[in-house]
Amino acid sequence: MADSAWSQIEAYIAEIEGTSCNDKESLEQFRIRFLGSKNVLKSLFGEIKNVENERKKEFGQKLNELKSLAETKFSTTQSELKKVDRAGAKQDMDMSLPAQPYPKGSRHPISIVMNRIIDIFEKIGFVVSEEREIEDDWHNFTAMNTPEDHPARDMQDTFYLKDSVTNLLRTHTSSVQSRVMTSTEPPIRIIAPGRVYRNETISARSHCQFHQVEGLFIDKNVSFADMKQTLLYFAREMYGPDTKIRLRPSYFPFTEPSAEMDVYWGLKDEIDYRITKGTGWLEILGCGMVDPNVLKNCNIDPEIYSGFAFGMGIERQAMLKYNISDIRLLFENDVRFLKQFSTVI
Ligand code: PHE
Repeated sequence: MADSAWSQIEAYIAEIEGTSCNDKESLEQFRIRFLGSKNVLKSLFGEIKNVENERKKEFGQKLNELKSLAETKFSTTQSELKKVDRAGAKQDMDMSLPAQPYPKGSRHPISIVMNRIIDIFEKIGFVVSEEREIEDDWHNFTAMNTPEDHPARDMQDTFYLKDSVTNLLRTHTSSVQSRVMTSTEPPIRIIAPGRVYRNETISARSHCQFHQVEGLFIDKNVSFADMKQTLLYFAREMYGPDTKIRLRPSYFPFTEPSAEMDVYWGLKDEIDYRITKGTGWLEILGCGMVDPNVLKNCNIDPEIYSGFAFGMGIERQAMLKYNISDIRLLFENDVRFLKQFSTVI
């Protein structure tokens, strides 16, 4: 019995070495025969008990060699077949077929306009600074020289957080000014884009949420002329190289003197009359020299430093650019509306 087991091992070795599997089916047959749960080697392992004691070890080693020979044969053949498979698939592929359609997303018109404004200011060294939308009273109002009894603090305008008298949704990006000034040494040259909130009735022209871009420049010897030149540069980049601007005196608690900037839009047709209220001028932003009280509140010495700030709304600029007549469309996220806007501006 044991003798035939020895020769059976040799026979299997010869068989395995002589086998060549050219397809998956024959490889599977091979696997079942030599490596499956009922493989032919199992009965040989059962023969160990019949081998004379002094040759048991040798017999066991032989059997293990046989087993690993089968395993190696299987795995090398398997990977060769996979290679052939892949090459075949390549040949079957029709490279001239059109690709699957790839739906492209599009940017929100607010983002397009906001990014354009950021680009313009980044070119002259302003750095983007983003801050929280949930602010405290101090950064939104007090630091910005807005006294307790100022109408801007009215419950009508400001969304306070439930059960809180100090936390609110920022009403303007000017809160970023106080955040940055209290944490950074001048010179400061930042641009702060973001969302702001006011408790206003929602209509085609106003919303309780909208976007602003704030600018702040603090250094030694900063003058009103510096501000005017910066804003003229912006207007010409944004609205064309021949754009005319004008600054009208205005009032903001955090700037002194304060102004509003208009760009000349023209009076070519009825729509121009309507959007410029018959003047041809369009108000774009509020600005001014940072009030010394604001600098003091933020621990910056107004005897050494001065600066200017400006803030502009994004929605109106986007509505003008894309001829959008209802501000609510900008917040409804209807993809049929949103996918109309190209990123080229
Ligand atoms: N924060 C003002 C607003 O919301 C705009 C502004 C910013 C004005 C900076 C002057 C300086 O209307």
